[in-house]
Amino acid sequence: MNKIDSVKETLEKYGQMHLLRFYDELNDEEKTDLIEQINSIDFAELKTAYNNETTNCAISNIEPLEDIYIKSDFSKSDVEEYSSISQEAIKQNKIAVLIMAGGQGTRLGFDGPKGTYKLKLSESVTKSIFQICVEDLLKAHDKYDIYPYCFIMTSDINHDDTIKFFEDNNYFTYDKNRIVFFKQGNMPLTDLEGNIALKDKSNIYFAPNGNGGIFKALHDEKVLATMEEKGIEYLFIANVDNILLNPFDDIVFGHIYSNKADLGIKTIIKENPEEKMGLCVNADDKFKIIEYIDMPKDKNDERCEDGTLKYKEGYFGVSYVSRDLLTRINTLKLPYHNAKKQNKYIDTNGNESKKDINSIKYEMFIFDGFGLSNKTILYRVNREDEFAPIKDKDSVENAIMLYKKKNC
Ligand code: UTP
Repeated sequence: MNKIDSVKETLEKYGQMHLLRFYDELNDEEKTDLIEQINSIDFAELKTAYNNETTNCAISNIEPLEDIYIKSDFSKSDVEEYSSISQEAIKQNKIAVLIMAGGQGTRLGFDGPKGTYKLKLSESVTKSIFQICVEDLLKAHDKYDIYPYCFIMTSDINHDDTIKFFEDNNYFTYDKNRIVFFKQGNMPLTDLEGNIALKDKSNIYFAPNGNGGIFKALHDEKVLATMEEKGIEYLFIANVDNILLNPFDDIVFGHIYSNKADLGIKTIIKENPEEKMGLCVNADDKFKIIEYIDMPKDKNDERCEDGTLKYKEGYFGVSYVSRDLLTRINTLKLPYHNAKKQNKYIDTNGNESKKDINSIKYEMFIFDGFGLSNKTILYRVNREDEFAPIKDKDSVENAIMLYKKKNC
């Protein structure tokens, strides 16, 4: 069977023949490229994701978390002990930073990688999000006289632009050999009936497969191998859009390191039930992070006698994960979460569709992998010290205010 026949067979099996609607109009190069794109799709996986067979598996027996360290409650002697452990480990390169920057950043409405978004900090000072991030690394360099590794996860939509930005800015004076870019995977976008969307006549509409794509990418892109080779035992993993990261947090990292935990999660207190933030809870007696949309409403809104939220440990995307755990999670098939969104694409009839909620985006979430942890420790930190997210234009001013309070 020749290539096109075998592709047709697969497409017929999965009801996706419309992908070849314009095939005869394409030139040879476009034809080959489209076939390659089709061959890169795991149709069975997409079908499962569309049918939502693996997601939102009934979450039951939810209880508030009880075991959590409050960072400000560590005694002076603990602080000294853990700080010295942490500093020793940092000097030995046991920890690296990983910034997840593969997302589309749709809500910010900025045409470019989110990390390249510039913030006006004063009349004369403007910094990009990436610059702010590298400045944390430079501070660590000044303190420990090493250049900690920094891995930046990108995706097809922003990989080249991200690297170019670092090149153009001379890596903000950081050691360029210690900033490593790697790409996460994609999933096709579909219409609401599960038909794969075309971006144009010869291209499938692919989107990054969610920040849960990190585990496979760490393996496939040889980041785990680099970590092993360099003796890096932990990754501090965070979202690109938080400009108050604190990767080299001596108390927290020293505590995680000395307790040989394979996962450390920072939490902040969720401000109100409507705040769009995942929650750290106990579910069936196990630690679990539940995305806000999946949290049962009655529990989400429940309050204690003193009026505070019963479920309040907000997950803001900051974790310390051991190499061992990262390696183990790589073998796990994470569920896909389906987000219905508005997008511009070519529909099954060959017409442009761009109105209303017309498509499904399939995303894995990083925290769905955390269930494999053998030892998780949670730390509640002060919100104002570590959380200044830039999600949309409205959040920029507040993030800058928080950043300046901490840094200026
Ligand atoms: P968000 O869920 O805020 O998504 O990502 P986003 O793509 O940045 O923005 P919207 O929803 O389109 O407006 C949280 C973090 O996870 C990263 C993002 O870059 C951000 O740091 N992420 C998200 C990835 O690295 N890959 C993805 O596929 C999705």
